Amino acid sequence: MAVQEIRLEDLDPQAFIEEKVAEISSAVEGLAINALSGGVDSSVVTMLGHRALGKDLKTYFIENGLMRQDESREIVSTFADLGVPVEVLDAQDRFFGALKGVTDPEAKREAITQTFYRDVFGRLVRQSGARYLLQGTNYTDVEETVAGIKRQHNILEQLGIDTQRQYGYKVIEPIVQLRKSGVRAVGKALGLPERIYRRPPFPGPALAARVIGEVTRERVATVRAATKVVEEELSGTGAFQYMAILHEDRVTGIRDGKRDFGLQIEVRCWESKDALAGRPTRLPFDLLERLSQRITAEVPGVVSVTYNIASKPPSTIEAV
Ligand code: XMP
Repeated sequence: MAVQEIRLEDLDPQAFIEEKVAEISSAVEGLAINALSGGVDSSVVTMLGHRALGKDLKTYFIENGLMRQDESREIVSTFADLGVPVEVLDAQDRFFGALKGVTDPEAKREAITQTFYRDVFGRLVRQSGARYLLQGTNYTDVEETVAGIKRQHNILEQLGIDTQRQYGYKVIEPIVQLRKSGVRAVGKALGLPERIYRRPPFPGPALAARVIGEVTRERVATVRAATKVVEEELSGTGAFQYMAILHEDRVTGIRDGKRDFGLQIEVRCWESKDALAGRPTRLPFDLLERLSQRITAEVPGVVSVTYNIASKPPSTIEAV
């Protein structure tokens, strides 16, 4: 692998920031754009890019229809407070169009990748005249993709994809040498609010990584509602990551005295340092029961809630 990792113990966040700001300023001529999802990685890249380029960086929140509840509103307002304007681009129809009928996990990732980089960004780049895309690929993304475990949606050049030729822009990856812990340290040093730099990871394909089978608006709405409950109940645990997953299989349940062939939600809650390996958190049974009561009461159609007790490996953190 050509990329050289910077370990947390070797990282000097302030020096890293100065170096990356200088690198971005000298690499970019004219305009650059970036997509902010509100996760730690894209938030750090947005701040580095903003420091380096000011108004010459155009930051977009791509509303792909796959994000969590109220995400775009919250992120736009957080960054407005930091002095960074963020434009919301509604691309939901394009993403759901590309995902229609797609059930294979890697095909889903590919559909999202192509929609994001070619359709949405390709178009934005042509309209704005930008020739650079800043993005928050980190060291673990590269490592897992190159190892062939999962195709992380943001990996391009490491797979031999020439973005300049295929999409018309060059990709700049300022945090590619860092793992999550390093990115968080840089986020703190950049003055991001703690709720951002401490945020649990969230995958690039967003809630599509948590829907087994076809990703439709309706199925995303189900997993979104379950995610809200899981995040409310588990944010206090200090776990590395927690999530709700919508299964494709249905199971027999009972509602209002009648048979209901309903939906199943799987809850996962992980202990992990860097997402390379993980163990399920030993949640108290009361909390598990509350989760199941709330999810079956608050998420229409759900009759079954399970808790994943497998470790990574052989499981992975996300289900898709
Ligand atoms: P996995 O599921 O590979 O996830 O164990 C490792 C970490 O990366 C986060 N993440 C992604 N996972 N596709 C994924 O499957 C992506 O594009 C992606 N982006 C980030 C994931 O949430 C976990 O923390």
